[in-house]
Amino acid sequence: MPPTLPDLDALFAARHSCRAFRPGPVPNGVIEQILTTAQKVPSWCNAQPWKLTITSGPETESLRNALGHAADSGGHAPDLAFPTGYSDEYLQRRRSCGWALYEAVGVQKGDREGSARQMRQNFDLFGAPHCAIISSPAELGAYGAIDCGGFITAFTLAAQAAGVASIAQAAVASFAPMLHQHLCIPKDRVILCAISFGYADTDHAANSFRTDRAELSEFVDWRG
Ligand SMILES: Cc1cc2nc3c(=O)[nH]c(=O)nc-3n(C[C@H](O)[C@H](O)[C@H](O)COP(=O)(O)O)c2cc1C
Repeated sequence: MPPTLPDLDALFAARHSCRAFRPGPVPNGVIEQILTTAQKVPSWCNAQPWKLTITSGPETESLRNALGHAADSGGHAPDLAFPTGYSDEYLQRRRSCGWALYEAVGVQKGDREGSARQMRQNFDLFGAPHCAIISSPAELGAYGAIDCGGFITAFTLAAQAAGVASIAQAAVASFAPMLHQHLCIPKDRVILCAISFGYADTDHAANSFRTDRAELSEFVDWRG
């Protein structure tokens, strides 16, 4: 029996971005199963443009160190330009998810040092034992990014189904030149995003809040 829509809805509802992990690794067989499931997403011409560089053990520690140094030196240079701005409802949603996180971890509004400290957790990969760096061939442009976005979502859901927590991290991709060099990712590939993953520290305050979603009427224009 294929899973029903309520089964899928329960899986989607259970997934959330994890911002505190336990250090223990995910067995290779589980990671392989997550990847095999996630790669079933559609892509234009079935090009399957995603490639993942996945770290474990000392390689994750080495990446954490390199990200820490890059964050200290401050040279943000993503391969894919970051959004130029968030307006209207997008700004409002961005603010409310940021405030929910800061409230959960006890950072008051206006506490710039506290929010910078929490932001910095991105470069510690929130303590995750694994990080996947996702890249797409530069020649595929925005459509490669669309296909990889689908893969990223599928990965997070397949991981959830396997009891593995995850978080997509554009913040990590902001240090693209360092990532290309450190992980030998060819220059003809665009680094889009990272996914840190592992087993959730469910008691950690950073994992104690959930984001909400808009009403259908806010994003659907029904015709006919
Ligand atoms: C492409 C992408 C990039 C993201 N980058 C970051 C990031 O750099 N740091 C972070 O803390 N969360 C990041 N997130 C997580 C979002 O903040 C999160 O998905 C959103 O607030 C909805 O919450 P939920 O995933 O818990 O449902 C990213 C999510 C996506 C899909």
